[in-house]
Amino acid sequence: MILVTAANGNQGKLLVPKLLAAGLSVRACVRSEASGQALAAIGVDDIVVGDIADPALLARAMRGVEKVYHVGPTAHPQERAMGFAAIEAARAAGVRHFVFSSVLHAIATDLVQHEIKRDIEEYLLSSGLEYTILQPSNYMSPLKLRPVFEQGVFRLSWSLDRRQSLVDLGDVTDVALMALTDSGRHAAATYELAAPGRYTGHDLAAIIGSVLGRPVQAEEIDADTYLKEFFGDVGPEQFPHEAHVLRAISAHYSAHDFVGNPNVLTWLLGREPTSYEQFVRTHHEAFRRTGSMVFSTAR
Ligand SMILES: NC(=O)c1ccc[n+]([C@@H]2O[C@H](COP(=O)([O-])OP(=O)(O)OC[C@H]3O[C@@H](n4cnc5c(N)ncnc54)[C@H](OP(=O)(O)O)[C@@H]3O)[C@@H](O)[C@H]2O)c1
Repeated sequence: MILVTAANGNQGKLLVPKLLAAGLSVRACVRSEASGQALAAIGVDDIVVGDIADPALLARAMRGVEKVYHVGPTAHPQERAMGFAAIEAARAAGVRHFVFSSVLHAIATDLVQHEIKRDIEEYLLSSGLEYTILQPSNYMSPLKLRPVFEQGVFRLSWSLDRRQSLVDLGDVTDVALMALTDSGRHAAATYELAAPGRYTGHDLAAIIGSVLGRPVQAEEIDADTYLKEFFGDVGPEQFPHEAHVLRAISAHYSAHDFVGNPNVLTWLLGREPTSYEQFVRTHHEAFRRTGSMVFSTAR
């Protein structure tokens, strides 16, 4: 039995079907009944609904589990405590392999969610559990394509002149599947996961434009505009941790390039990682076919 946390999130939506297709038994942990139903509809029959900030829920979710894929939900104020508690619960339940979805350059402590993952990595290393740590770079995000497909504008909340490495979650979840199915081979490993390329916002807009066959404009928005869009009517003041995380991302990515090396991912996949152009092409085709954004175009 493999437990996947944040199972209906960006990674979970891709990983869970791959685990099921491999004939593995999956326990999926989500917060809402709606996500539980969505996972049941694709064939997950063991679903734990609840808040993983609650150690009792985590202890229940780990019962009878052999392997864990732990993802901390995006910008959650309890992310560090959730990570520590997941490791403790795994140890108590006798889990054999703990795969932790961390982040590229977890040592970059002015990025709040990186410092948290650095701490969780350290906790995991000291836990005595067998582990694999995945460190994906920034996602090639379908969410960032939606305004391009719908309004023709590519928007980033950081400097358009800074370079970044990106990674396709199809590739990340292919590696996650390997780590979970061939645990011995990937034990005690920490893998940086980045596709080839170092792109500015202008470069990304040009790639999208070449796929769409029309010019796409890159637009930089400030952190507060992004926060307003992210939180809608509720307002960022209701979510101080999340707002702090997102402001720190804008500041760091505007002050520094954020790049990684593709060698490890290429070696693990045994093929070239998905390029940004391929990613855009796949999502644009799905958008044209369905008329809306599709968030899980699994390879
Ligand atoms: N975005 C990037 O470019 C990037 C790059 C590298 C690393 N990361 C890291 O990746 C992680 C996020 O991964 P992701 O995008 O796959 O996850 P995600 O989409 O943020 O995860 C959402 C899932 O988590 C569940 N969830 C949220 N709060 C929960 C709670 N309190 N208890 C139980 N379940 C809860 C949600 O359940 P419901 O569906 O029921 O709401 C949903 O299924 C973050 O730690 C982020 O820092 C992100």
